[in-house]
Amino acid sequence: MGEIPSPDRRRDRVNGPFAARMGLAARRGGVALAGVARAAALGVLLLASGIALAADRPGKAAIASAHYLATEAGHEVLAAGGNAFDAAIAVSATLAVVEQTSSGIGGGGFWLLHRAEDGFEVMVDGREQAPAAATRDMYLDADGKVNRDLAVNGPLAAAIPGEVAALAHIAEHYGRLPLAASLAPAVRIAREGFPVYTKFHEMLGWSLPHIKRWPAASEAFLVGGEVPPMGHVITLPDLAVVLERVGAEGPGVFYEGDIARQLVEGVRAAGGIWTMEDMAAYEVVEREPIRTEYNGYELVTASPPSSGGVAIAQMLNILEPFPLAEMDRAQRAHLVVEAMRRAYRDRTLYLGDPDFYPVPVERLTSPYYAAGLRAGIHPEKATSSDMLPGNDGFREGDDTTHFSILDAEGNMVTATLTVNLAFGNRFMVPGTGFVLNNEMDDFSAKEGVPNAFGLIGFDANAIEPRKRPLSSMSPTIIRGEDKVGILGTPGGSRIITMVLLGILDFMEGNDPEHWVSLPRFHHQYVPDHVSAERGAFTEDELAALRAMGHDVQVSDRQWGNMHGVLWNRESGAVSAGSDPRSDAGLATVR
Ligand code: GLY
Repeated sequence: MGEIPSPDRRRDRVNGPFAARMGLAARRGGVALAGVARAAALGVLLLASGIALAADRPGKAAIASAHYLATEAGHEVLAAGGNAFDAAIAVSATLAVVEQTSSGIGGGGFWLLHRAEDGFEVMVDGREQAPAAATRDMYLDADGKVNRDLAVNGPLAAAIPGEVAALAHIAEHYGRLPLAASLAPAVRIAREGFPVYTKFHEMLGWSLPHIKRWPAASEAFLVGGEVPPMGHVITLPDLAVVLERVGAEGPGVFYEGDIARQLVEGVRAAGGIWTMEDMAAYEVVEREPIRTEYNGYELVTASPPSSGGVAIAQMLNILEPFPLAEMDRAQRAHLVVEAMRRAYRDRTLYLGDPDFYPVPVERLTSPYYAAGLRAGIHPEKATSSDMLPGNDGFREGDDTTHFSILDAEGNMVTATLTVNLAFGNRFMVPGTGFVLNNEMDDFSAKEGVPNAFGLIGFDANAIEPRKRPLSSMSPTIIRGEDKVGILGTPGGSRIITMVLLGILDFMEGNDPEHWVSLPRFHHQYVPDHVSAERGAFTEDELAALRAMGHDVQVSDRQWGNMHGVLWNRESGAVSAGSDPRSDAGLATVR
């Protein structure tokens, strides 16, 4: 093992424009004004940072998503005169029909938008919100133990969904087409149906005992109480009606009208705590994205209530001074794992909904803070997570969805959406056609007790009425003068580290097909082990990492479903990649 080159290539930029742009949030209500003000500020700051706004246009559109029908729906809306934002609505809504394993209008997400004409960027936060009757201890039994069944199965696990509000918000403020036009492909597909595909089939099998508990979900997805065969066509006429009505009548019908009443009554009849006031109180929040710089590239990514952007900024700040590309792969993996460990430790302690908890974004994303973390990394020895405050426990999960869009004008959307676990809480209100989320499990149900992803948390992410549960979703744009990458992935707690590996691969000059297929490895502070896909390391690399003290656990399990787009501004080439781990994804350039 060679010596790690000293991190002397780092530029001191703590007082530069990047620090000044961290962590600003604007509530809805001042959307238009706040947007204009931020766009103007951003233009000045980008010029100050030496990264010019793109004056050029890609001339082609690229869409990469987890399902071919969603990718096609996006192109259909572009062909009808829509922009990337309209296409994002079409893709989101179609995924809400064909991929309820992973996202839907019973859930929420983050849509990170880049508008080409003025460089305006915003994260549309359509994350779910806890109902007002939620309490810190709502999942604890009489002995103070977390009741895992209540936390993830059935309507008590559901937070108030945000996707419908977010799609309507995007259409109103950023789209070119009426909401109904962008929802039309999803309405048609819900009526005509979609064939069962491998991932859907597998996840339905995995969720079968839970789906069977709820008659409406069973009726929608099962045949004779069993998982239908591959290719069987699933139609969701009730969902078609809901989407059609949202398009025709606006989001009010979902949050205050008779669909809201149907949802609240259905949830309460099955043991949930939603009220009409909770539905009416739901609001989309526009948030300033997290921004950081990495080796001359600007990164724009998700801000709290996602932990993803802060953690990615931290990890990149820790790693930036190291010449990773020149290192041997085991030494490089050691440093990457140590950066992951430290960022996830801070996630545990400091990240939560910024409207409820003072998340120290500026400190956590500061290069000075990263320098302190970096100083604690031994060049050839794993740090034990026990040396940092910790806990243990772990269960694997896979869920959520991601898509990336670039339109011919240069507008971009990178969006990660979720219902949390496969098919959310599996409960469906009769007559609606969509499952509800179990996003309440992304809160910390009890201090230091792991959730479904093995993640622990404390005060910052404790349950509170109307609070948003902490997320790992990390839709990201990375850009330099020569090229722009758009990427993200599902994968629960692993989302953040998968996006980090994708960014590092982008930096090495690889294309989206390479980012999305890369074998992955992950460390999340607790439990203290590196989980790795087979192929992530050679036998020699495994031996070197183990000799450094890393507990590397290789498995045949695969993680994530990454979809990325690359615009090479020098050559004008646009390319896209969909994760080969799923058979349904599609990346196209037209
Ligand atoms: N439900 C997964 C996440 O938001 O991170």
